[in-house]
Amino acid sequence: MEDIKSGERSAVSGRVRLTIDIRSFKYPDGTQALSDINMEIRKGEFIGILGSNGSGKTTLLKIMDGLAKDYEGIIHFDGADIRKLSPSDIYRKVGLIFQNPDDQLFASTVFEDVAFGPINMGFQEKEIVSRVNDALKAVEMDRHTKKSIHNLSFGQKKRVCIAGLLAMGHEILLLDEPTAGLDPMGEYKMMRLLTKLNRQNSVTIVMATHSVDLVPLFLDRLYILSKGRIVREGIPEKVFTAPDEMANVKLRLPQIAELIYKLKNEDGLSFEKIPLTIGEARREILETLRL
Ligand SMILES: Nc1ncnc2c1ncn2[C@@H]1O[C@H](COP(=O)(O)OP(=O)(O)O)[C@@H](O)[C@H]1O
Ligand SMILES: [Mg+2]
Repeated sequence: MEDIKSGERSAVSGRVRLTIDIRSFKYPDGTQALSDINMEIRKGEFIGILGSNGSGKTTLLKIMDGLAKDYEGIIHFDGADIRKLSPSDIYRKVGLIFQNPDDQLFASTVFEDVAFGPINMGFQEKEIVSRVNDALKAVEMDRHTKKSIHNLSFGQKKRVCIAGLLAMGHEILLLDEPTAGLDPMGEYKMMRLLTKLNRQNSVTIVMATHSVDLVPLFLDRLYILSKGRIVREGIPEKVFTAPDEMANVKLRLPQIAELIYKLKNEDGLSFEKIPLTIGEARREILETLRL
């Protein structure tokens, strides 16, 4: 796997689009799902919410998409309280991709599904066709326009879901475990696609995941969620620390980092920093061997 991100992490300093301040969110059965969540999402960022099962990732994304409103706290979208925005104000700009595409897709063909949003937004036919084609091209599904949704692979269905939101002109995509259920190559291709949308199409992305090995390769910044609270935040190099600290939040280090950590702490090899990717590890190991 090449190291896509190294050397080209853009200095993201766009304007703040979402400011999240959730003091508490409880489900009707009393489950305390989120507490003291403070986040800031800027234009152009590629952000991860990393957490084990049940840590609150899906709940947080639903609140950010305006689907759950009965939380204590306030969320601002471009400076406005999202509870005061109309659904169409939110849904034209921010969209959630569910973990399971079958929960999101409903039309019979790829074209019809992606066209649904633009049709509802009242565009003329020519504009609809052009939006659908552009969106399907962006997710590399333009060869499958007429295909029945039923006959798509799981990964292709996820791409159609993303296209559906892009066709509506979404600037912020919230993705719930976009790589779950995909094989290793599918996972990698999905992450490359999201990176491309982020870099070339200027889509701001917030994705929930528990895949620690993928995160350092692609994401700018992440929040670690544990039991409904943010326990750490920052660039991957800062957030991934010692294995026991990761175990406390039911996660682990990326495998490559775990190996170098052991070589350093159990076998006495000297490493200046703990690399998170194969490319970085290779450089660090060569450096150590040269000493
Ligand atoms: N509809 C619901 N009613 C009650 N509790 C829920 C509901 N949905 C999720 N939860 C609980 O809220 C917590 C966070 O869940 P969730 O946001 O789905 O976590 P994640 O997506 O990180 O796996 C868990 O304890 C879960 O059991
Ligand atoms: Mg979830």
